[in-house]
Amino acid sequence: MSVRQLFVTTALPYANGNFHIGHIMEYIQADIWVRFQRMQGHQVNFVCADDTHGAPIMIASEKAGKTPQQFVADIAAGRKPYLDGFHISFDNWHSTDAPENHELARQIYRDLRDIPADQGGSLIARKTIEQFFDPAKNMFLPDRFIQGECPKCHAKDQYGDNCEVCGAVYAPTDLIDPVSVLSGVRPERKSSEHFFFQLSDPRCVEYLQKWTQDGRLQPEVANKVKEWFSVRTNPDGSTSEGLGDWDISRDAPYFGIEIPDAPGKYFYVWLDAPVGYLASLKNLLNKRGEDYAAYMAQPGLEQYHFIGKDIVTFHTLFWPAMLHFSGRKAPDKVFVHGFLTVNNGEKMSKSRGTGLDPLKYLSLGMNPEWLRYYLAAKLSARNEDIDFNADDFMARVNSDLIGKFVNIASRAAGFLTKRFEGKLTTDFGVQGSALLSALREASEGIAALYEAREFGKATREIMLMADKVNAYVDQNKPWDLAKNPANNEALHQVCSTLVNTFAVLARYLAPVLPSLAQAVESLTGSDMKHWNAANLDVASIQPYQHLMQRVTPEQLDALFEPPAKLGSEPEFSAGKSGSDPNSSLPPGGEDIAHTISIDDFAKIDLRIAKIVNCEGVEGSIKLLRLTLDVGEGRMRNVFSGIASMYKPEDLIGQLTVMVANLAPRKMKFGISEGMVLAASHADEKAEPGIYILNPWPGAQPGMRIH
Ligand code: MSP
Ligand code: ZN
Repeated sequence: MSVRQLFVTTALPYANGNFHIGHIMEYIQADIWVRFQRMQGHQVNFVCADDTHGAPIMIASEKAGKTPQQFVADIAAGRKPYLDGFHISFDNWHSTDAPENHELARQIYRDLRDIPADQGGSLIARKTIEQFFDPAKNMFLPDRFIQGECPKCHAKDQYGDNCEVCGAVYAPTDLIDPVSVLSGVRPERKSSEHFFFQLSDPRCVEYLQKWTQDGRLQPEVANKVKEWFSVRTNPDGSTSEGLGDWDISRDAPYFGIEIPDAPGKYFYVWLDAPVGYLASLKNLLNKRGEDYAAYMAQPGLEQYHFIGKDIVTFHTLFWPAMLHFSGRKAPDKVFVHGFLTVNNGEKMSKSRGTGLDPLKYLSLGMNPEWLRYYLAAKLSARNEDIDFNADDFMARVNSDLIGKFVNIASRAAGFLTKRFEGKLTTDFGVQGSALLSALREASEGIAALYEAREFGKATREIMLMADKVNAYVDQNKPWDLAKNPANNEALHQVCSTLVNTFAVLARYLAPVLPSLAQAVESLTGSDMKHWNAANLDVASIQPYQHLMQRVTPEQLDALFEPPAKLGSEPEFSAGKSGSDPNSSLPPGGEDIAHTISIDDFAKIDLRIAKIVNCEGVEGSIKLLRLTLDVGEGRMRNVFSGIASMYKPEDLIGQLTVMVANLAPRKMKFGISEGMVLAASHADEKAEPGIYILNPWPGAQPGMRIH
């Protein structure tokens, strides 16, 4: 098979908030597909970026008292823990405000504007339109920033684009008694020249009809798109035939990219947002010293975009037309997924995203691969919504993933290590050989399901195979065989068969469970990185270590507990000046840290320590040198910055608390083998003082603090 060149993206998230679980779902879906392609030996460039421009972000940054650049940089700085945490293997993360994007967007625009007459002429037109203008803010108002009375049902406080009470669609200028959401003043009508991409031009219509209906889109998506060529609903509720021209400009002030040769005019955010796919790719290739133009010119290059159902218009009409008529390669496919809801809940708001906070999930010590597996089990190639249901999640993770699959290894590995020095036989017996061959022969079928993004079907097939393996275990009962040394050979066969089947299934699941697959590679020596790796029988295994914990009801309860109840006792939240959370002072001068799991806490080994000796440190006015006994039969040397508070002779003989498993640290005055706990206010200057801890009588050196 020849090596394919794949350029894969996910939608660029708006840089006005942290990721919610809907974003993570999209990334996991794309990541599974990308990892599968990489296992096939194909070359993938998988990129994303922050979508930074537009009025909402400009306004939000103003509210936050930051420049838009600073605002989006702060959002970008928070992306990594999510992406690393859920094993999303992007090759690059970039920004639509980066120079590459400014340059590419402007060039694409020029190419569309300057199409020569003999090729049909320019596809950019200028028209003067009338819009609402906020005289206090001195800016044109986007529809969502105007409110007024619905012209149809007379409901108050409706947005400028549609009425949430009666559902009417209208233009903002139709609202009765409109006000600007930004300033509260009555907006004025003002005319301004706008730039339009002429999607109604017969060239575009003909091209897009073909592009959208030639089988490249999912059937349900193609059908929906087809409607847009025949009827179109105008903002005022009337309908027109066919595609309408697209307004691609906005007036200053606007956070965006300035339109060439049009001072004070900016590209509408959706013009430069998808260009960000190319900008991120270009940035990646530049960093690697590869040539962007040459890469894009490869005849076999395949370009795929994973997106949600709400942004199909942009990706199946505007984007392919922009690319094609500017002389560039259009996408090969757009993969549309539905929306994720949580616990049958209301559809998550795009900006708020309720229900399941991805970072909280991680901070509770929940395994990211549980979520990857659960979503894989629910995903198909179709554009349909899926629901995250806590009970269903627990069942699929505990019964299927762990009960059926992970347990195969734990049932066999112990016997192999204890009884056969970890060595396996390649004689699997008749039944074992047949089972193993059947599993290995399923490779192509499973691969086809991954290729078609039928991850639910793929995991189902894999679990059916795991069922077969478990039936084999139940028939052969290794725990019974182990009771009688006469059955040694049979026990060896059965356990060797099981470890081999486990390695095969782990490789089939590797796109979904990359970290588990890596652990299986260490355990068995089986290659988990190549789909078609030779099926070498496992020769020996390393001592078995637990591969995956079960999810507990407590974890799920904690995950869905409303944040208000977490960690903030009434004393903390009842601020001095009423209910505004920003005006209450944080306890001790700093906010309570992120929630951690009990497992995280257990990593810190706190012990009662006896201060056997204490002295000042020459050359330091801050430090005291403590000699501590934590019951180990040796003394520890620890430096502590408490000289301003305590005289050495007052401390000698006292008990205190230390972190006993902190990595030793080399300091100017010697090595510090741990840390003594002490309390202080975050603002040392305003509230000086540092106080060491002293346990109640009865505690003994060496006791652990739980
Ligand atoms: N910035 C645009 C995309 C520009 S692409 C050139 C945007 N951003 S978004 O942050 O609102 O959404 C990013 C992606 O997340 C979109 O594909 C969107 O469909 C997806 N999702 C948003 N909410 C979702 C769910 N509840 N479930 C699944 N995907 C969801 O749109
Ligand atoms: Zn109404």
